[in-house]
Amino acid sequence: MSDLTETLARDLATARERTLRLTDHDEPELLRQHTPLLSPLVWDLAHIGQQEDLWLLRRGDARREGLLPADVEALYDAFTHPRAVRARLPLLPPVEARAFCGEVRGRVLDRLERLGADDDPFHFAMVVSHEQQHDETMLQALNLRAGPPLLGAGAPLPAGRPGVAGTSALVPSGGFVLGVDAADEPFSLDNERPAHVVDVPSFRIGRVPVTNGEYAAFVADGGYDDRRWWSERGWAHRVETGLQRPQFWATDGTRTRFGVVETIPADEPVQHVTFFEAEAYAAWAGARLPTEVEWEKAAVWDPALARRRRFPWGSAEPSPALANLGGDALRPAPVGAYPAGASAYGVEQLMGDVWEWTSSEFTPWPGFRPMLYADYSAPFFGGDYRVLRGGSWAVGASILRPSFRNWDHPIRRQVFSGFRLAWDA
Ligand code: AVJ
Ligand code: FE
Repeated sequence: MSDLTETLARDLATARERTLRLTDHDEPELLRQHTPLLSPLVWDLAHIGQQEDLWLLRRGDARREGLLPADVEALYDAFTHPRAVRARLPLLPPVEARAFCGEVRGRVLDRLERLGADDDPFHFAMVVSHEQQHDETMLQALNLRAGPPLLGAGAPLPAGRPGVAGTSALVPSGGFVLGVDAADEPFSLDNERPAHVVDVPSFRIGRVPVTNGEYAAFVADGGYDDRRWWSERGWAHRVETGLQRPQFWATDGTRTRFGVVETIPADEPVQHVTFFEAEAYAAWAGARLPTEVEWEKAAVWDPALARRRRFPWGSAEPSPALANLGGDALRPAPVGAYPAGASAYGVEQLMGDVWEWTSSEFTPWPGFRPMLYADYSAPFFGGDYRVLRGGSWAVGASILRPSFRNWDHPIRRQVFSGFRLAWDA
């Protein structure tokens, strides 16, 4: 096997190990709907196999016969069945869902071994990304699960550094290359492309994400009751849903995380806030949210060499010394935990820990061309979404790039979402 096929085989195996671990529960557990916002885990499981069958075994041609009967396959179409109703569908039982996923995977590995001229390695990476993204969604569901902990408290993380919270870095004005091309990042998804030069006025950006301790000061200051800090839509949502603090926070200084009740760590990036809460906090703090363009410049631009770095810290692949990724921690690392992961501008914890809300709506870069999975990005452009950047602790390391763009509705907060501040300079 070539280096490329070996990498893809390894990434497929890593994703599958994770999927099987997250779905290694009894049938009633896998059929539970923890929230109308997310699917029962057994839906995600078979949907992962169904997408792999469609994109790799049938090369995206849905008219070709797949491994599932057409009426069963139809249950796993995300566009026809909203998440809230999936538990009521006649879904494949877990044993059959696992067997189906295994059968698809066996055939996919055969194809990967004998990669032909009409096979595009990118499509294998696209399917890895899809599976890893569903693994993160399953973690969101498990975090909302009522009952005693199922996953433990999470793997150890490096300690933070005192004094780094609340500090910022200057990014001087000037052009930079936004986005990537397939030639440099062959596994980049359609919405990250193409690379193009944009001019960015100077700005300051938080060296690290906003912490629980900082956010608690906003709550204690009556920030949730002060109309001044909120946008019109944000305030309407705040009032309608009675938001008073981040999701999973209690009033006694504790939070619930994957069933574990614990003291809220002051030095950890705040998680589980909506875009509207992030925006209100920023206004209260005399700041604003960064645009996704500012975020990407702060993350990858090397002003001395006038070129992009592959990762904020340089070209080395992500590792536990550089970023909190992969999902085992079950939480973000304290701020200052990854000095070696700093970008050229000295900005830290850009990759991993928490998805960071930006002020940007989700739109295509000029010259956008949809990939084989044409409905991955395009149906969502211009919708009621805000872009999140950087990836959370739950993201599989192999699918993440600084150009990766996530999006969600501004009212969502079951996501592992936090934010960092920005200022005009
Ligand atoms: C990119 C995370 C917004 O979960 O809706 C999974 C990823 N797309 N299956 C989502 C996705 C199709 C997508 N996000
Ligand atoms: Fe999907």
